[in-house]
Parts: sequence; C-alpha cells; structure tokens
Amino acid sequence: MLFNKGRPDALCLKSYAFYPKIEESMKQTAGLYHEKTSYDRSKMGGHILDWQNQPETLKRYEGRETVAMPREMPLPGEDLLSLYEGPCKTRISNGGFGLAELSKILLLTYTLTSQSRHANGMFYYRSAASAGALYPTEIYVMSHGVGGLDHGIYHFSIHDHSLVKLRDGRFSGAVNRFVNDRASAGSPLAFFLTAIFARSAWKYGNRSYRYHLLDTGHVLENLHLSLKALGYPFENTFDFEDQRVNHLLGLDEEREVALAVCRVGGKLDSPEVFDPPVIEDLPETVKKASQVSPREIEAPLVRAAHNAGYDLNSGETDLNMCQDLGIIPKTRIPVFPESRPEPDLLYPEAVFRRRSSRNFVAETLPVSHLYALLNVIIETDCGGMDPYAHSICSGVLTSDVESLGDGFYLVDEKKAPLSLVKPGDLTGAMSRICLDQGWMAGASLHFMFMTNMALLEGAWGPRGYRYAMMTAGLMGERLYLAASALGLGCCGIGAFYDGEASRLLGLNETSRILYVVSLGILKSMRKRDALQ
Ligand SMILES: Cc1cc2nc3c(=O)[nH]c(=O)nc-3n(C[C@H](O)[C@H](O)[C@H](O)COP(=O)(O)O)c2cc1C
Repeated sequence: MLFNKGRPDALCLKSYAFYPKIEESMKQTAGLYHEKTSYDRSKMGGHILDWQNQPETLKRYEGRETVAMPREMPLPGEDLLSLYEGPCKTRISNGGFGLAELSKILLLTYTLTSQSRHANGMFYYRSAASAGALYPTEIYVMSHGVGGLDHGIYHFSIHDHSLVKLRDGRFSGAVNRFVNDRASAGSPLAFFLTAIFARSAWKYGNRSYRYHLLDTGHVLENLHLSLKALGYPFENTFDFEDQRVNHLLGLDEEREVALAVCRVGGKLDSPEVFDPPVIEDLPETVKKASQVSPREIEAPLVRAAHNAGYDLNSGETDLNMCQDLGIIPKTRIPVFPESRPEPDLLYPEAVFRRRSSRNFVAETLPVSHLYALLNVIIETDCGGMDPYAHSICSGVLTSDVESLGDGFYLVDEKKAPLSLVKPGDLTGAMSRICLDQGWMAGASLHFMFMTNMALLEGAWGPRGYRYAMMTAGLMGERLYLAASALGLGCCGIGAFYDGEASRLLGLNETSRILYVVSLGILKSMRKRDALQ
C-alpha cells in the first residue's frame, strides 16, 4: 500500500474526539460537517497511521461464482476534446448490450493502470485519481438483459476484471422503485458506485467523507465518459433510497454505502412485473466483505454526515451558485484562441495514462490550453447531471497564461467563459494555504470548485452536500483527463486550510471551497519538446 509519507496531505486533524456531541447536531446539517472537519493552521497535529491495520484496497468475496470478462477489445478511437464537445447519445446504436460491451464500459471506467513495488508487495494505481491512493470507491452492476450474463447483481473486481455474482434474478423494477422513478421504463443495465468508509478514514479520519464523495465523482466521470463514447444513453442519480439500495447490493451499511446510481439505455416495459416479492438478506460472508482491516478507524462524523443526507427532496434546480458566493466579478473576458490544441493522446489512452504530477515548471501556458480546459468543464452534461451541476460554482486562479492577466476568475458560460474577480497572482498564496504544498506554486492554473453551504442546504437539504462534492470530483477527473490528453500535469488537492482559502478568494461567511485542482506545464514535457 502506498502512502505519501513526505507530503503535507499526510497531516490530519489530531483527533475527531474534539467534537463529542457533533453527531447529534449533524442530523440537521451537513454544512456543519464541512465546518467541523476544516483544517486550521493553529490546530494541526500529527496523525499516527495504524500500519498493522492498513485497509485492503481490493474487495474480495469468499466462494462466490465469478464471471470472467474479455479484455482485448477494440476501443473508441476518438480524441478526448471532441468527445466532450460532441452531443449526448439518446438511443442505443448497436442494438443492445453483451458481456463484451459491459467489459468495455468497465475497462474505460476503472482499471489498474500502473504499479510500484513496496515493502509488502506490489501496489497498483488506477485510472481514476484518489486521495492518498486509498481507493474507497467500488462498482456494482445490475444486469437484466445483458447478453451472455445471467440476470442479477454483481460486484466488479477491478484486480482481475471480473464480475462476482451476488444475486440471481431480475431487479430492474426494484432499482426503478428505489430511485423514486416509477414512471420511466426499466433499464437492462445499471451501475452503482459505493464508498468503503474505513479505507480513506484510515488516513484522513473524520475529514474522509469529503474524499469518499470527491473520489466517487472521479470514477463517475470515467463511467459517464465511457457511456458517452460508446453511444449509450444513461441517467445518473444521487437520489435513491439509501437503505434499500445498500441492502440490494449486500453492503454492510455501517461500513460501505451507495452514493450514485447510473441506469443505462434500452427499454424494458413494465419491469415491475419481475419484482421479487422480497429482496432476501445475503449471507453474512457477503456483508463481511465490506470490512477492510481487523481494526478499522472510527470516524463518527463521516457516518453522521452521510445519515444527515438520508432524506430525499426534489429541490431547486436553477440555482446560480456563482452569484451567491459573495464575490462580484468585474469584467467578462472572452477567451477565444485562434486554434484549438491538438491532443497528444486519444480518449482511451488519456484515461489509461492519467496520473497525478507535481513537477511543474514556471513557463507561459498557451491560452489555447486554458480554452480547451474551460470547454471541458463548461460542456453540457449528459445523463441527467444538469441539476447537480448547479450545486457548485467553478473558478480558476491563473499565473502566466499567454495574453491573460494573472488573477482569480469565475468560470461562467460559453460566450465569455471567464469573469475577473481579483487581479494578481494568487497561486503562490494558495499553495501555502494548501498545507504548504510548495510544488503547487509552479502550476499555471488552480481550478477551484466552490459552493454556498447555506444555499445548498436550503435548496436540497443535507443531501445537497453529496451532490456538490461528487460534482466537484467529477469536474476534477475531467481536468485530469484533459490534462492527460494535452500533455499537461495535473493534481487534485483536498488538503487546505479551509478558512484561509475562503478568505483569500473573498468568499462570504457561508461559502466554501470544496476542491482544488492544479494544472501546468511539466518539467518532463519541456525536456521531451527540447529533444524533438
Ligand atoms: C480528492 C483528492 C484529493 C487529493 N489531494 C491531494 C493533495 O492534497 N496533495 C497531493 O499531493 N495529492 C493529492 N491527490 C492526488 C492523489 O494523491 C493521487 O491521485 C493518488 O496518489 C493516486 O495517484 P495517481 O493520481 O497518480 O494515480 C488528491 C487526489 C484526489 C482525488
């Protein structure tokens, strides 16, 4: 297992016992969770990692049937930027799903991409970024009409790219009921993304719910993109009956919870006729698989924040978060370079070769690269993500971008994507606020994903926190992939002194930064260019 010993993100809140009664009050608000897990320069302490109980990052089940999936398949040959610019698909073009199609979706979503040797063996990195490489996210599949696969519920084993069967039967009607969407037709295929609390809690304690959500957003973006690239219509939701979905997947919900449900294309009329009368309990061995070490870290605020979001509410969908952060943009800046950069890598390669990198060099970033990145985060969402997109506002700190003054900009709309809020180079100050991660000062861009907590909860209740954090994670993965395609460096940053960060940007009392993603030119790229 990898652990970034030398990095400042290793620092954690000293103890979650600081907040003895907070689980109670968090029944009312998830914003309070964010507040109580904020980093404060004067209150940081070392966190001793329990190496004897390091969490297992691969989920394994005992004695269940496994279905191998093909790995050698033709993959889409599109370039990533065109894929983002292209339209969402509304119908299945190739007439249905088979095991090979499912395999392809999963391969492009979540796979092992590189390895390094450590004291206790090999450690494997994955196609989606994850705070501390702790990989809390798991994927489950509901199949009700995938050719070559029995109807049922499966767990996706990333380590050998196989499916482990958890339930036999037709569950598409049940899934429809659990996502409160009786009206729509049933789907032959659905994906469920979950998080195992103890994996990230091992390092980040109570702050880890942030990472469960952000990390899940990263994997979700890969899933959406693969579905878009392969031409399948899909519908994602963060709104479903938590306990019933957790039960369907056989989770020990004290340890692992569902966070997103994505139903894919096709039409099954009246799927409820197949509804099983009762969804049986799965054997204890299945639930036990949610346990990742003999002694797991207790992080009571994580559970409390998650439970605070149990209630579903329809909520507002036309919020404009950027107008309510307390910052007033001065000038709108059109950013239209003469040409769009040619990506170095095609879409699948951009996913497989995505990595975090930190060895930036201070060099002018071509404005065309900024434009390409803005396009990727402004692009219209497929799969019903539009309402959730309103839960955050995006911004960017720039330093030495060709023909653009340094400053803090809001990222708004297509016509004039940037609105200048504050001139001046704030990237160095931000790197100090991000727990003195000095390497960040060399980046050309720090993207910021922000929300007004009061507005968020007013509109959607405490569940809105899940929307905002997963949407921020999703945006983070988009930036990572675009950086990978363009040959830029990129790194997500979840560690920052929260209060200082809001003050630097001038946000109002109730607004907070949720996630920072830094991008820039890499030393290795400069060397490569010099050789050509
Ligand atoms: C939500 C999130 C927060 C992260 N925070 C930091 C951070 O504060 N500092 C850092 O150096 N890397 C950070 N990372 C990068 C991870 O350390 C990195 O993704 C992980 O080690 C896996 O390596 P890879 O991205 O190269 O595959 C973060 C990643 C994510 C997804």
